[in-house]
Amino acid sequence: MSGFYDVHTHILPQVDDGAKDMEETVKILEKEYQDGVRTIFATPHYRKNMFESSLEKIQQQYELVKAEASRIYPDLRVLLGCEYHANMDMVDMLDKGGRPTMGGTRCVLSEFSERSDFRKIQERCYTLLTHGYEPIIAHAERYPAISKNMDGLEQLVEMGVYIQMNADSIIGAEGFTMKRFCKKAMKRNLLHLIGSDAHNMKDRSPSMGKCAAYIEKVMGKEYMEKILINNPREIFEEDR
Ligand SMILES: [Fe+2]
Repeated sequence: MSGFYDVHTHILPQVDDGAKDMEETVKILEKEYQDGVRTIFATPHYRKNMFESSLEKIQQQYELVKAEASRIYPDLRVLLGCEYHANMDMVDMLDKGGRPTMGGTRCVLSEFSERSDFRKIQERCYTLLTHGYEPIIAHAERYPAISKNMDGLEQLVEMGVYIQMNADSIIGAEGFTMKRFCKKAMKRNLLHLIGSDAHNMKDRSPSMGKCAAYIEKVMGKEYMEKILINNPREIFEEDR
């Protein structure tokens, strides 16, 4: 099975805490391809005072990775995005083109602090929505304000927010509590997208193949294809 989308990765070398060089990037790409992934979003961190590589450098590294990917695997696409640590100025920054959206769409992969309360997450998403952006909450399972609040998760989805969870959390590599929450969210149809959040090949390597197999086992093949292929295709490509 192939054609999967991985919507959250740190594969661009030397722009954040992801891949350290092109050699490591290539190893990640190889693993992704073997796992059936054919579209990868490179989503380097943007966080004020912490991850602020210049846009120029990011674009330059992206072009190199894109060229390398298509040299090794002509049918592997790499698109540029950003994991944006949500702040008050994000709409201004996005409007100015200071950071890329997801593949040039209106979608913004938005990260929060683990201690963010629910209202703050909701407000930031609301601000994005009212300015014509489509927030995707990055690894939504990580925030207690969401993982201990299934009704809140439902409210966010009803607002029009997309929910991304990490492959490792879904398969249980981040502990049983997270695994159980992810499963519950899937059963209640509150998950839209999956990312590996891969940073390297050592302790944060991509596990999309394992995740696809697990989802197929617990949710069925149709659901697995919906989450890993059809949803991202609709969200990022159709009607645009
Ligand atoms: Fe990330």
